Amino acid sequence: MAHEQKPVVLLVGAAGRFGLQIVEALQATNAFDIVALVRPESLSKTSVTVLREKGVKIRPGDFSKDTISQLEDYLADVDFLISLINFTAILEQKNMFLAAKNIRRVRRVIPCDFGTACVPNRRKLYDEGDCGCYTVKLQIRTYVWDLGLPHTFIDIGWFIEFILPQIPKSEGDEWFSQFSRQTYDSENVKVAVTASTDAGEFVAKIIQDDRTINKYVFCWSEEITQGDAYKIAKSVSGYDFDAVKVHVSDEDVHRRITEAAAIVQKDPSQWFEVVKMTSYEYAYSIYICGDNTVENAKRQGGLDARTLYPDLVPKTVEQVAKVFYAQT
Ligand SMILES: NC(=O)c1ccc[n+]([C@@H]2O[C@H](COP(=O)([O-])OP(=O)(O)OC[C@H]3O[C@@H](n4cnc5c(N)ncnc54)[C@H](OP(=O)(O)O)[C@@H]3O)[C@@H](O)[C@H]2O)c1
Repeated sequence: MAHEQKPVVLLVGAAGRFGLQIVEALQATNAFDIVALVRPESLSKTSVTVLREKGVKIRPGDFSKDTISQLEDYLADVDFLISLINFTAILEQKNMFLAAKNIRRVRRVIPCDFGTACVPNRRKLYDEGDCGCYTVKLQIRTYVWDLGLPHTFIDIGWFIEFILPQIPKSEGDEWFSQFSRQTYDSENVKVAVTASTDAGEFVAKIIQDDRTINKYVFCWSEEITQGDAYKIAKSVSGYDFDAVKVHVSDEDVHRRITEAAAIVQKDPSQWFEVVKMTSYEYAYSIYICGDNTVENAKRQGGLDARTLYPDLVPKTVEQVAKVFYAQT
């Protein structure tokens, strides 16, 4: 008996940190044939081996460097195109969308958003930058609109794994671990959060749903304050985070962004400074301005994924915290 042909989902950036979560959720639906476009220099990555073992078809190709004609070839059999690329390459998605437009086959494109709710011109304190900031993501949304490509723009709030403070390591602590224990003047600002492992389940539902075509959808699990997150973290892990948290004033957040931006402006290859700048831009928007809320996402035209999919019950912060602290 002939097998029914499933719609093909092509993921760009599937071999990244977030990619596997999306792959697993899409595979769980058994509704798609999953293909990953992987840059040649990444083909030997362990994560690509994991994708192969999971039955994902690997298609070598570089969305950021290959010709439009090559990109058209990669997309020739594709129904859904989902981009999950690194935040420094957002603008480089353009040719891929142009190729999708040319071949008139792709039923829907999902550009790389998957971020927090924001407002225009907020996460762009670094004027010359094009890395990960909201302004650049909005440029891509406009580009996709102007091409007339069927699309859905998806944001997912802040990862629960990011709002939870990490336990300091005695043998030395990474920068992001220290960043996770920084608190801001407005500890009571609400933050919409989602477990990274639930984002894929939302995506799988959204791309099969005609109500979300040409719409912006906001996915979330809970809205909590940093203060709430600390209480949950303490009760689950038993660790006294209040004793190790570091308060960073609004003024200091601005200073840190400006200092990192000045270095990046002179030398964009200073990766650590790019990470610092982007992280503090997020902190400014999320914790100080309070942009990342369901209400704000709706104000930006967002459909509430919790209302669209009441049967999808995402993990709570407490549930994620139990796994998170058991692993550390
Ligand atoms: N909401 C949140 O809290 C949150 C948190 C983390 C991430 N995110 C979102 O998830 C997206 C993916 O994040 P991630 O951490 O999974 O990304 P990542 O692992 O850093 O990178 C994903 C893929 O992007 C490609 N890539 C990396 N550097 C590149 C470059 N310089 N030029 C072109 N392509 C490059 C690589 O594809 P190949 O494997 O083909 O080389 C890589 O596997 C982010 O852009 C962000 O929107 C959201």
